[in-house]
Amino acid sequence: MTKTYAVIGDPIDHSLSPAIHNAAFGFLGLDCTYIAYRIPKGELAQGIEALKKIQIAGFNVTIPHKIEMMKLLNEADENCKTIGATNTVVNENGVLKGYNTDMDGFLDPIKKRNIECKDCNVLLVGAGGAARAIVVGFSKMKVHKITIANRTKQKADELIKFANKLGLESDYTDLDNAGNIVGKYKFVVNATSVGLKGSASPISTRAITKDSIVYDIVYMPVETELIEQSKKQGATIIYGWEMLLGQAMRSFEIWTKRPAPYEAMKLTLLGRF
Ligand code: ATR
Repeated sequence: MTKTYAVIGDPIDHSLSPAIHNAAFGFLGLDCTYIAYRIPKGELAQGIEALKKIQIAGFNVTIPHKIEMMKLLNEADENCKTIGATNTVVNENGVLKGYNTDMDGFLDPIKKRNIECKDCNVLLVGAGGAARAIVVGFSKMKVHKITIANRTKQKADELIKFANKLGLESDYTDLDNAGNIVGKYKFVVNATSVGLKGSASPISTRAITKDSIVYDIVYMPVETELIEQSKKQGATIIYGWEMLLGQAMRSFEIWTKRPAPYEAMKLTLLGRF
């Protein structure tokens, strides 16, 4: 029987996950298919029941359900528990097991470039669900300090507490000041949705230098305003599509227990932009 996988979220119609996963299934000749399924906020439990009825083999979870989904899992792996959110679920005869591949997906391109993170300082812009996975990732890489810049200070404060619990030094700056101090940080990461669809950079890029590493998790467009400006100033760039691909590959491997076909997935993804 064909195995069916899905990505659930809202909005979901522009998700690139079906294209990436179907390309991988096709490349390996697996009898599997992957669909996008819209579940509005507040309707997660019913949506999951419907997926169980069609014996979904597994699914990805995206905005706005990553945290809420934790309550509907029967089991959760270590990363899931630490981050408090899931993006990948396996369904074994109605038993749902959650994983979180966002963190490793985020770290993949850093490791690929052999960038040393130990004892470095990070300026993290954003304090939502994605930022949480990134904080856990950087704590595993043993960074020295994370400064959180966010529009809403209260959310930054919560993330600072979370970082402290993981043994990380962490402090706050506002978005305006972030642009002034960015030159003091080895890493600058944008984990907000600002930059999506061509909107402005979340922080001023004036003080970004050739020694900065700028990582924007926004992947649409590929060259966000933050990336374009930082590139002009000579910074090392890590693209949002690299994280998207990293998390997709790991989800694929959890589901199929086979190495994900990187090139096939990458070509399909980049062809979509
Ligand atoms: P995700 O799961 O992708 O992290 P999220 O939890 O909704 O999504 O977090 C979105 C992040 O983008 C938050 O840091 C949010 O800032 P607030 O905490 O102030 O809401 C940030 N964000 C979204 N739109 C923004 C905007 N127009 N200007 C500045 N920050 C914005």
